[in-house]
Amino acid sequence: MSDLEALLDEALAAVSRASNVADVENLRIQQLGKKGAMTGLLKTLGQLPEAERPAAGAEINRAKKKLEGALQNRKRALEQIEAEAAAAANAIDVTLPARGVAQGSLHPVSIVLDRIEQFFHSVGFDSVRGPEIEDDYHNFEALNLPEHHPARAMHDTFYVTDSLLLRTHTSPVQVRTMESRKPPFRIICPGKTYRVDPPDPSHLPMFHQVEGLMIDEQCSFADLKGIITEFLQVFFEREDLMVRFRPSYFPFTEPSAEVDVQCVHCLGAGCRVCSNTGWLEVMGSGMVHPRVLEMSGIDSERFLGFAFGMGPERLAMLRYGVSDMRHFVDSDVRFLEQFR
Ligand code: PHE
Repeated sequence: MSDLEALLDEALAAVSRASNVADVENLRIQQLGKKGAMTGLLKTLGQLPEAERPAAGAEINRAKKKLEGALQNRKRALEQIEAEAAAAANAIDVTLPARGVAQGSLHPVSIVLDRIEQFFHSVGFDSVRGPEIEDDYHNFEALNLPEHHPARAMHDTFYVTDSLLLRTHTSPVQVRTMESRKPPFRIICPGKTYRVDPPDPSHLPMFHQVEGLMIDEQCSFADLKGIITEFLQVFFEREDLMVRFRPSYFPFTEPSAEVDVQCVHCLGAGCRVCSNTGWLEVMGSGMVHPRVLEMSGIDSERFLGFAFGMGPERLAMLRYGVSDMRHFVDSDVRFLEQFR
């Protein structure tokens, strides 16, 4: 029996030293397994005088129970510690600042193109696109700009071959539409255009245009004025924005007019942006020349048309107060992210 007490004490001490669940299980096998020490003691009961056996058996069972209880408590405690350690190792620190999502932004010229399209779609115009490499016929000839016409000099053209060029305006898309569609129709032609202009604060060799064309039996200069005035007031978000039409010349329209808006910076008082005139030129426009209609197969006795053309870069500069057109192609993120 003194063996039993010594064995139990030693086993309990080992249990309290066990530092993980696997150690506890090994101890259980060492003591209580088939070949375990405690189990071995039970087997020696037979060697005792019969009268002593029940008491000794009861003692051994009590020790066994005590050890079993200690093993189980230690196992539970270690399981808890191990679970907590695992949870801590995978923990998410909710107090850390978030990494954030880098959100991109639309290019200011894209924003302006979208706004232009949105307005004209709302008044019945469809968008039509065409090739950026054009032939001489669609870019010039069909627009009443025959070879050697002095107005060709206004378009410093990038030639690809003798007869192919990078379009200098989006008017050739209007020619292609007149050739292929039956009037009446209303279209706008947004897209890239090219001219041999070295980059400076108000020129880029590649820029955008949105041109518009409406062809109908009833279609007057008053309709042109109405639609353009409405568009500019919506675009600049000023209901009372003053718009004026100034006589001008384009080979493909007659009469032709340059469209000015009241300076959106000084509201007409005169400032650096409007060169002290109080006005900003924003568009070319006019009634389509009958010869242009005829060349594209439209009966000029029956149909009339108006056309207009504007530069989204210029509109973006005026709307956002950008002083140099080159910012639009510099790809400087500090500039671009302001349009978020
Ligand atoms: N195509 C002209 C240009 O690029 C603009 C314009 C379009 C003028 C339609 C009048 C009518 O200069």
